[in-house]
Amino acid sequence: MVTDKKIISLTVKVGLVLFAVCILAPISLMVLFRHAVPLQTLRLLFSAGPTSSVMWEEEKMDSANKGELLCECDMSSLRSDVCELKGDVRVILSNVTIIALLHPSVSVRRRSWRMKPHARKNDGHTLANVTEVLVSVTPSSPYAPGCTAESAAPAVVFSVGGYAGNMFHDFTDVLIPLFITASRFRSDAHLLVSDAPPWWLDKYRPLLRGLSRHAVIDMDRQSAEVLCYPHVVVGLSFHKEMSIDTAKTLGGHYSMAGFAHLARRSYGLERDTAIRLLHGSDNIESPRRPRLLIISRKTTRAFTNMGAVAQAAAMLGYEVIVGEAEQHSDLPAFARLVNSCDVLVGVHGAGLTNLVFLPPGAVVVQVVPLGGLEAMARDDFGEPAGDMGLSYVQYRIAVGESTLAELYPRDHRVLRDLALRSEYLVGQNVTLDVARFSGALSRALELLHH
Ligand SMILES: *[C@@H]1O[C@H](CO)[C@@H](O)[C@H](O)[C@H]1NC(C)=O
Ligand SMILES: *[C@@H]1O[C@H](CO)[C@@H](O)[C@H](O)[C@H]1NC(C)=O
Ligand SMILES: *[C@@H]1O[C@H](CO)[C@@H](O)[C@H](O)[C@H]1NC(C)=O
Repeated sequence: MVTDKKIISLTVKVGLVLFAVCILAPISLMVLFRHAVPLQTLRLLFSAGPTSSVMWEEEKMDSANKGELLCECDMSSLRSDVCELKGDVRVILSNVTIIALLHPSVSVRRRSWRMKPHARKNDGHTLANVTEVLVSVTPSSPYAPGCTAESAAPAVVFSVGGYAGNMFHDFTDVLIPLFITASRFRSDAHLLVSDAPPWWLDKYRPLLRGLSRHAVIDMDRQSAEVLCYPHVVVGLSFHKEMSIDTAKTLGGHYSMAGFAHLARRSYGLERDTAIRLLHGSDNIESPRRPRLLIISRKTTRAFTNMGAVAQAAAMLGYEVIVGEAEQHSDLPAFARLVNSCDVLVGVHGAGLTNLVFLPPGAVVVQVVPLGGLEAMARDDFGEPAGDMGLSYVQYRIAVGESTLAELYPRDHRVLRDLALRSEYLVGQNVTLDVARFSGALSRALELLHH
């Protein structure tokens, strides 16, 4: 979204498509392990392109006939690595080590690799603050650390990462991938989290409760434990920005609309449909006016003429509310406010993430500042809005609506060469052309005749 680091990561084209699978079958062990271990080596083993996935398919089919599936890693995504371990799996919290113990009769060399369980794989900036996990597949021995607690439930291990508190990152990098990963366990997975500030866990506790009936296990603060599970997933699956690709889910069983439903239910939000306007003069009879929430930003990409915009919206028939989605604010209260509204207006930024709390049928109006941000704006909030059953209007500001136009002559490079750069994200405020923007607000009204 809006961080400079993201821009950098957007421009990084990673050519390698990596797949790894470690399927332990007594006969084919050594062959398979060649592809299963340290990630650095994997990068060298596989070349780019479709060949690697073909190799993977073949390995998988070949060994499925021969033995028990114990460990499977998918490193093909550009956003996250995910490994799944089944059997006797022990999570040692003191040094964040996960060991999968093999039956002693299986003679195999011990294999281990390190991974960062956070869905922002190529973003060194945030990964710097992600606790590394050592995963080790090793023959059982009397020296293996004993369990302090044993569970029949599965576990999911993940890190909240370095952008905690930026609501967009909280949802796109952590909460939605967690929903994707944990859904199939139907609220039964233990959530083992690292790098989570206590306020972060409090803020999202209702949603985390919706994802698992068990209390979250904060790995950084329960470090004396060795937790044992029959099934552990390390890392979170990622589909697309702020959303879910239902085609990739098991049998299409869950969707972004399902996530939004869970989010609303978790925070006790009651409205499941936006207002439905009638055509023509019938609206005079309508018991209330459609509510429009304008999300204000204080320092960057701020509206400079909020009063005039609110007035224009009121003239069109909206009840207008201006709200500020502050960091670490009272999320339950803000979620209730958002849920009470029918239209959400905001400049591209993390505050728009609150759209997950809108009732289906509501409309999101995203104001896109100068700077070649349209495609990113659509990916971050436009597509997800559609996936959640919301309508969407994208309003790209004209040059004259950017405060950059006050700083540079009209033919200046900055106003013409609009390639995505951080100066556009931090260097401009927005003075909406009220007449022009009223068009977008009218369009939102039309969409409420759904
Ligand atoms: C982690 O701690 C366990 C239990 O104390 C120990 O057996 C193991 O060797 C440690 N692993 C590493 C990599 O330090
Ligand atoms: C990582 O942690 C350090 C020290 O706590 C902090 O100064 C830095 O801002 C963090 N980085 C990110 C990306 O949050
Ligand atoms: C944008 O508006 C905010 C709040 O008024 C102000 O602090 C900031 O300096 C402005 N930025 C620019 C680039 O005009």
